Amino acid sequence: MPENIAVRIQKLREEINEHNYRYYVLDDPIISDAEYDRLMRELEELEKQYPELITPDSPTQRVGAEPSSAFPEVVHEVPMLSLANAFSDEEVIDFDRRVRERLKVDMVEYVAEPKLDGLAISLMYENGKLVTGATRGDGSRGEEVTANVKTIRAIPLQLRKKDYPPLIEIRGEVYMDKKGFEELNRRQLEKGEKTFANPRNAAAGSLRQLDPKITATRPLSFYCYGIGKVEGSELPGKHYDILMKIKSWGVPVSREIKVIQGIDACLEYYRKMAGKRPQLPYDIDGVVYKVNSIEQQERLGYVSRAPRWAIAHKFPAEEATTVIKDIDVQVGRTGALTPVARLEPVFVGGVTITNATLHNQDEIERKDIRIGDTVIVRRAGDVIPEIVRVIPEKRPRNARKFVMPKKCPVCGSDVLRAEGEAIARCTGGLYCQAQLIGTILHFASRRAMDIEGLGEKLVEQLVDRRMVKNVADLYYLSKHQLMSLERMGAKSADNLLQALEKSKSTTLGRFIYALGIREVGEATARSLAYHFGTLEKLENASKEALEEVEDVGPIVAAHIYTFFRQPQNKDIIEKLVKAGIHWPAIEVTEDKQPLKGKTFVLTGALESMTRDEAKEKLLALGAKVSGSVSKKTDYVIVGADPGSKAEKAKKLGVSMLNEKSFLRMLKELQG
Ligand code: IVH
Repeated sequence: MPENIAVRIQKLREEINEHNYRYYVLDDPIISDAEYDRLMRELEELEKQYPELITPDSPTQRVGAEPSSAFPEVVHEVPMLSLANAFSDEEVIDFDRRVRERLKVDMVEYVAEPKLDGLAISLMYENGKLVTGATRGDGSRGEEVTANVKTIRAIPLQLRKKDYPPLIEIRGEVYMDKKGFEELNRRQLEKGEKTFANPRNAAAGSLRQLDPKITATRPLSFYCYGIGKVEGSELPGKHYDILMKIKSWGVPVSREIKVIQGIDACLEYYRKMAGKRPQLPYDIDGVVYKVNSIEQQERLGYVSRAPRWAIAHKFPAEEATTVIKDIDVQVGRTGALTPVARLEPVFVGGVTITNATLHNQDEIERKDIRIGDTVIVRRAGDVIPEIVRVIPEKRPRNARKFVMPKKCPVCGSDVLRAEGEAIARCTGGLYCQAQLIGTILHFASRRAMDIEGLGEKLVEQLVDRRMVKNVADLYYLSKHQLMSLERMGAKSADNLLQALEKSKSTTLGRFIYALGIREVGEATARSLAYHFGTLEKLENASKEALEEVEDVGPIVAAHIYTFFRQPQNKDIIEKLVKAGIHWPAIEVTEDKQPLKGKTFVLTGALESMTRDEAKEKLLALGAKVSGSVSKKTDYVIVGADPGSKAEKAKKLGVSMLNEKSFLRMLKELQG
C-alpha cells in the first residue's frame, strides 16, 4: 500500500474533524455542505480500497455498528441527578436565600444556562476517545447507546488538543433542533410513518433505536452542561471554566451560557431568554442557575436526588386544552391564504389566546383538525399559538371539515394552489387589499420603482384611509390629499410628489420587477424585458413563449401568464402607463449580446451615469455583473475613489477599465 495513501487518509480525517469542530462548536463553518460531503466521500472511497487503514475513530465509522436486540445496562458511578424546579420568581429568590445562608455570603456567583428540552446523556472518554454513551435511566443505571451516540456528528469521537484527563465523563443534552424536527416529521409523513409530538420525543425516540442506521438519519445534536466521573487530572475550580475547557476539546457548549452575579441578574437572564426563546433554533423549557464555584457546590451538597447548588427556573405552561369554534382564512401580504382557528378563549403561557394558526390545508389534514374539535394548543414565547393535536375522544358528532375557499375572501379573485406547493394563494395581486401594503412597498423599493420616502408608516396610512387602492393610485395623489396625513407637512408632501415624478422614468426591467409577479425577481424581470422588448409583447406572451426566456420554467411561466390574464392587473398597468411611467425602448436582437459570458464588476463613482445605469447597460449587452472580484472576473470598471475591489483586481491581474474606456467600449458595442 503506498505510504502517501495513509498520509492522505490521515489528512482527510483531520480536515473533516476540523470542519465538524468549526460547524458544531464554533458555529462558524468555512466550507459548504457539498464540499464537506466530497471530503467524506473521498475518505470512504480510500478506506474501501484499504480497509486495513480504517480506525474506530475515523469520521466514516459513525454508522458502523449492526442493529442490536437490546441496550445493555450501564451503571453511573457518579449518579446522574435531576434538578429542583422553580415556577415563580419567589421560588428562585428562596433558593438564592438558602444558598447564601448555607455559604454565609451576601452574593453568589451563578452560571445561567438554557434548559434544553431533550434527553440527558453521559459520554465516557478514555484517553480522549469516546468509549461509551449512556442514557440517564433512573439516574443510577441507564442504557448503553454508544453505537447511536456515535452517529451524532456534534459529538466528537476523539477529543481535540491533549490536555484532557485520561478519563472523563462528559454530560449534556441530546436534542433535535426545531428545523430538524419539522423536516423529520415531514419525512415520516411521506413514508406513512408516525410523526412525533415534539422535538423532545423525537430526540428520545431517535436515540433509542436498536438500529443505529436509523439514528444516523435523525437530525440530532448535543450540548454539554456538566461532567461526571473524572480521573487522572485536575479540572478548573469553576463550573464555567470547566465548560470552556470542554469546549476547547471540541465538544459543543451553548453560547447562551453566562456567568452572572446574584439573584437579580438570574431573573434578568430568565426574562431575556424567555424573549429570545422563539428565535432560538432549539426548544428550551426554562433556564438553569448553578453556583459557579465548585468548592461552594461541594459545601452545599445534595438533597435527595438533586443538587442544592442548582435550580431549574421553568417557563410557564404553554399548552392548554380548548375548543375550535370556527376556522377563518387570513390573507397575508404575499397573497398566502392561512387558515386560522377561532378558539374558545383559553389562558396559556401567561396570556389568553383566541386564535391559532393552522398554517395550510395539508397541516389541517395531517392533524385531522375539524371545526368543533377539542384540541391542545401551544404558545411558545410571543410566536403565534399553534394547535398541537386533536383529542379524538372528544370529537362531537357534528364536527365539520374545513374547506379552503375558491375565491379570495378579501378581493374575490381566484385562489390557486400550485402543484407541489402547500400554500394556497390569492391571484388578485395588485388589486387585493390584503396584499396591498406589501405590494406597494415592493413597488416603491429601491431596486423597483425607487420612490424615495415612501415607507411603511406612510403606505399603511394611505391604504387605511383608502387613498390608495392599488399602486397606480400613487401617481394620482394630490398635495392636498397628502397633507391630510399624519406627520406630513407641505414640504414632505412636495418631496414625495417629486420622488413619484422622478420614479416615472425607469426601465422596462425595473417596471416588470416592480409589479411583484410571483417568482419574478430582478434578474428574471430583466431577462423578460430584454427577451420581449416591449410590455405589450410580454403581456400577450403564451406560456410556451415565456418558457423560452432564460431562467423561466413552467411554474414561473404560469405565474406570469396568470398575472397578465387578471383584468384588474391589466387596468392597473394601463393606469400606470397613463400616469406617465416610461422607459427607453429596447432593441431585441437575438444575437446582439456581444458581452455574453463576460463578467464585470463596478467600483467607485462614475461621472456620466450611476452604477445602476452602468449595470443596466452591461446587462443589456449580455454581460454578467457581479458584486465581488474573483479570478473569474473579466473586467473591473473603476470610477473615482474606488474601493478594495480595484486593489483586488490588480492583485489578481484582472483587466481594469476607467470610465473613458468603458464609454468607448459601450459606444462601439452599441454600434
Ligand atoms: S444540570 C446535577 N443543566 O434537565 C444537575 N440539566 O431536570 C444535572 N437539562 O436531566 C443536570 N438543560 O436532562 C442541567 N443546562 C442544563 C440542562 C439540564 C437541560 C435537563 C437534563 C436533566 C434535567 C433535570
